[in-house]
Amino acid sequence: WYETNKRNLPWRKTEDPYAVWVSEVMLQQTQVDTVIPYYERFLIEFPDVRQLAAADLQKVLKAWEGLGYYARARNLHRSAGVVCDTYGGSIPGEWKPFRALPGVGDYIASAVLSIAFGQPYAVVDGNVKRVLARLLRIKAPVNAPRYHAEFKSAADRLLDKTAAGNFNQALMELGALVCTPRQPLCRQCPLEDHCLA
Ligand code: ADE
Repeated sequence: WYETNKRNLPWRKTEDPYAVWVSEVMLQQTQVDTVIPYYERFLIEFPDVRQLAAADLQKVLKAWEGLGYYARARNLHRSAGVVCDTYGGSIPGEWKPFRALPGVGDYIASAVLSIAFGQPYAVVDGNVKRVLARLLRIKAPVNAPRYHAEFKSAADRLLDKTAAGNFNQALMELGALVCTPRQPLCRQCPLEDHCLA
């Protein structure tokens, strides 16, 4: 379903961990349509982790202007410095070192490690929670942090560990395009026959 229905988004044309990382940092708190032009400009101005690390913070913040949540940009810039100073400019592809970078939480770590490195970590964002809640009839509210672990364990259980990046993006895409908050398009859903909702 994902292969035939996925949107043609600029960060899906690359497997460069740096580009995937930039995209996921932007997408964590900003909608896809808003992110696209920022992502494209950012990668032209700061094409790799070394050039980001070497750039003036003010330039990075300027490129971020309008996206909001500027701590994301500051952390990304700081992290680029750590990647250059500590890892010779290669983004670490393992959980412990990558998750330890400034601004990298479970969401960013799971997204980047699965999409860019094929590592078997499940992503759990708002779209994924809504899909899982309906599919498995999980009654916990999708927006309450105390129930996060319930969704995480469901996502871990379903994850296709041999194709984690595509699996994660497929669930996000299903939530964005089909399993929408209101009036979901159930008759177009590849999971309809399995869905408990
Ligand atoms: N939202 C967060 N990450 C995404 C991705 N990789 N593709 C589409 N929407 C997303």
